[in-house]
Amino acid sequence: MEIAAKMVKVRKMEMILLLILVIVVAATAANVTYDHRALVIDGKRKVLISGSIHYPRSTPEMWPELIQKSKDGGLDVIETYVFWSGHEPEKNKYNFEGRYDLVKFVKLAAKAGLYVHLRIGPYVCAEWNYGGFPVWLHFVPGIKFRTDNEPFKEEMQRFTTKIVDLMKQEKLYASQGGPIILSQIENEYGNIDSAYGAAAKSYIKWSASMALSLDTGVPWNMCQQTDAPDPMINTCNGFYCDQFTPNSNNKPKMWTENWSGWFLGFGDPSPYRPVEDLAFAVARFYQRGGTFQNYYMYHGGTNFDRTSGGPLISTSYDYDAPIDEYGLLRQPKWGHLRDLHKAIKLCEDALIATDPTITSLGSNLEAAVYKTESGSCAAFLANVDTKSDATVTFNGKSYNLPAWSVSILPDCKNVAFNTAKINSATESTAFARQSLKPDGGSSAELGSQWSYIKEPIGISKADAFLKPGLLEQINTTADKSDYLWYSLRTDIKGDETFLDEGSKAVLHIESLGQVVYAFINGKLAGSGHGKQKISLDIPINLVTGTNTIDLLSVTVGLANYGAFFDLVGAGITGPVTLKSAKGGSSIDLASQQWTYQVGLKGEDTGLATVDSSEWVSKSPLPTKQPLIWYKTTFDAPSGSEPVAIDFTGTGKGIAWVNGQSIGRYWPTSIAGNGGCTESCDYRGSYRANKCLKNCGKPSQTL
Ligand code: GAL
Repeated sequence: MEIAAKMVKVRKMEMILLLILVIVVAATAANVTYDHRALVIDGKRKVLISGSIHYPRSTPEMWPELIQKSKDGGLDVIETYVFWSGHEPEKNKYNFEGRYDLVKFVKLAAKAGLYVHLRIGPYVCAEWNYGGFPVWLHFVPGIKFRTDNEPFKEEMQRFTTKIVDLMKQEKLYASQGGPIILSQIENEYGNIDSAYGAAAKSYIKWSASMALSLDTGVPWNMCQQTDAPDPMINTCNGFYCDQFTPNSNNKPKMWTENWSGWFLGFGDPSPYRPVEDLAFAVARFYQRGGTFQNYYMYHGGTNFDRTSGGPLISTSYDYDAPIDEYGLLRQPKWGHLRDLHKAIKLCEDALIATDPTITSLGSNLEAAVYKTESGSCAAFLANVDTKSDATVTFNGKSYNLPAWSVSILPDCKNVAFNTAKINSATESTAFARQSLKPDGGSSAELGSQWSYIKEPIGISKADAFLKPGLLEQINTTADKSDYLWYSLRTDIKGDETFLDEGSKAVLHIESLGQVVYAFINGKLAGSGHGKQKISLDIPINLVTGTNTIDLLSVTVGLANYGAFFDLVGAGITGPVTLKSAKGGSSIDLASQQWTYQVGLKGEDTGLATVDSSEWVSKSPLPTKQPLIWYKTTFDAPSGSEPVAIDFTGTGKGIAWVNGQSIGRYWPTSIAGNGGCTESCDYRGSYRANKCLKNCGKPSQTL
């Protein structure tokens, strides 16, 4: 009896618990739909401001602060791509740890009370190596990327399902009480789909229905895809999207990438976008009916490891974003945008209620009024002239409008904000410096705490192999390393006709990129680099008898953009010839039997991660020589401020700290001299190369 009674009691308690649980879930799960005006969350249209933060471009330790700074800056939504190559570095071997802990990142956004827009892609572009695709995908038999191809679709569906399932399992969709209110499939396919012919149409239809079948309970978008099938929302990317209209009157006007600056390439000056223009673009978008816009990037961060796209995208992905690479506020950019967001939010009730009524106030002058039946009213007054300020009369009052600016009037009377008038203070941040040369030695003598290992020139690994002809690099290395050795022994008779006096000749090399070093008989003879095509003529001295030609080809990020970007290739594909400096005869080397080595010996040994007895710490250290591994120890500066390493004085390479690759460095890659301006006029249409700084200086040193 007793036992039974207890059981009844227990049952009752379970019932009560269950009931509470049901109530909690029902209270937090949100219903996300959309209509002509906006995304609709739990029956209410929303004006949303979003910003991109790509989780692997910062460390998990930085995430809470980045997210908090986003919230403080007035964001409602964090947008991120999902990076396939990071999550599945080898087929069926998944990684969701550390910088790839997507679940943690999404949960942190939720904890801060922000929504998430998850752009699964899984093609993402993003200046990410191979556009986010893992390179093993290239070797799937019969595969053709981003088109109606069964092997590709199978892999794309498998990965997309994996991510959606993971998000569902963790209850991260808004429909389950989580923060994800929107997901994206594909990325800007519409920009390049004509190259894929008729198969592009069926691929896009398939992508849409595949995504929908995953049943996330929240809407999907496709960006830059005019023909996005219903119910996918087609969205706009660009520096301006005020002129954009979605492909159906039932879809809201959404802007998934408002480029807050632009990315940096090695050898290029640094792009920046004045905040007056960025704010203008945002205000124009909400003025003309938009209700969702996303800063790409809000925090750009760092291309750690070998994740940067290509060719030649730098390790920094700062992007001139409102939060800088190190997670510090970029002022006045961040502050001015925060003020803008406040002003827009003051207009929300009017914005969601109706379409704007747009009227002209004169040449290049425009008013948009959102007026509701219940009497609320918001207005945006724009002067889109690139030169002349103007005074306009609106509702009987006079307003001054600087050129290329928008004033926001949340009550249709008082100006809460003008995009050209900055109230936030300018701030600049600087690093306090600590030397890595504790004994203060000259740069030739790097200091007693340094040690080194010389990387052999040419073939040194047991897995080297012979092949007739020149091999394309990505097919050969599968991108396991940046480095590929092409090595050739060639016999030279003293009387070769192409030899000039003193056995001088010219080695002609053509490569698809991105860097080539040529060694003749173990000595560096020349080098060159280029984005897609390198053509070198290197004067060399040969000896009578056997000569060794070792060519080291180095990739600096695989292509991430364009139709068939996966097939552009890299490395020394020829021709490679020996010719006379005076013209005349030449011999073809391309078709000879070459020896290949994928990667460096030190990479195989794991010098970056495991200890080795080979480190030499004799002073002076060899400097200004090709191919050396260097190592030192240093005390981390105290506190929790961001830390950077200044690579000034080094050449080109990859760096690790405590076994973690922090990316490629290349301070000897100098930006060209053209195109920089002392100050950039924010007025007039922005383009990626409009405002440049840092000409003639290293593209990146930190
Ligand atoms: C867009 C693309 C993004 C990024 C951007 C440039 O076209 O969708 O992924 O590559 O360009 O930063």
